[in-house]
Amino acid sequence: MASSLISNSLHISFESVLGMDDAGLVAVFESFVVTGLKGFLGCPSVYYEDALTEFFENSLIRDGMIVSTIQGISVEISEEVFAAAFELLMEGLTDLSEVPKDLVFDARRIFSEYKEKMSISCKKKDMKIEFRLLGDIMAKTIYVKEWSFDAVTNEGFLLMTAITYGVKINWSSLVFDILKDMVTPGSRQAKGYAIQICVLLKNIPGLELGESRAFPSSRILTEKTFIDMLLSMKKLVERKWPMHLG
Ligand SMILES: *[C@@H]1O[C@H](CO)[C@@H](O)[C@H](O)[C@H]1NC(C)=O
Repeated sequence: MASSLISNSLHISFESVLGMDDAGLVAVFESFVVTGLKGFLGCPSVYYEDALTEFFENSLIRDGMIVSTIQGISVEISEEVFAAAFELLMEGLTDLSEVPKDLVFDARRIFSEYKEKMSISCKKKDMKIEFRLLGDIMAKTIYVKEWSFDAVTNEGFLLMTAITYGVKINWSSLVFDILKDMVTPGSRQAKGYAIQICVLLKNIPGLELGESRAFPSSRILTEKTFIDMLLSMKKLVERKWPMHLG
C-alpha cells in the first residue's frame, strides 16, 4: 500500500531540465512555468510514508475541505491553502472542453511526428517525443494514472493543447477536485500527490513526521533521467541528442 502512494509521483528538477540542450523538450518544461504548474511539479521532494498512509486512512471531505487525523492531531486542507502552497492559478478554464477549437485543430498538426495531422484520440507512438513526454507527465502528476500505453485520452489531448498554447487553466480547481476524489470512498481515483501533501503536513504545528524517506531518484526528472529514458526508447539516435552522458 505505502509504496503505491508514490508509484505515480514525479518531481521535476526545473533547474536541470530547463538547461537541456534540446529546444523542443525545454519548451515543454517552459510551458509548465508559463501556465503556472512549476510550484506543484517542482515542489520539494520530501516524503513521510507513515504519516501519508495515516493521512489517507483517516481522510474524508467535510465542508469542501479535506480533513484527516495523524497521530491524533487533526489536519485540514482547504483548496485555498493547497493552491497557495504551490502557487496554483485560481483563474482560467475549469472545463477543458472550452479549450478553443482552433488551437485543438492546430495541436493535431504540431503534436504529430509525421506529416499527417493526428486524430484527437491519437496513438502515443505517432506523437513527437516532447509531446509524449508532456502527456506522460500530466497523466502521472495531475491525474495520477498511466494513460493507456498507446492512446491519449480526449481530456489528455485538451490539457496538452492548453498547456502548449499557454491557455490559462484553473489548476486549483482541477487538482483539488482530483485530490477530493482520492479521499472519496469507492472512488477509483488512485492516491497520489504524495510529496505535495507532505509539504503541507510539514507546516502543521505539533505534528511529528519523523525522518523523511528519500524520494526515489528514478522519480526525479532531471536531464540525466531524461537521457536514460530516451535511450531506453531508442530515441536518442533519431534525435541527435548531444552526447553528454556520464
Ligand atoms: C477557480 O476554481 C475555484 C473553485 O475550485 C473557484 O472558487 C474560482 O472562482 C475559480 N476561478 C475562476 C476565475 O473561475
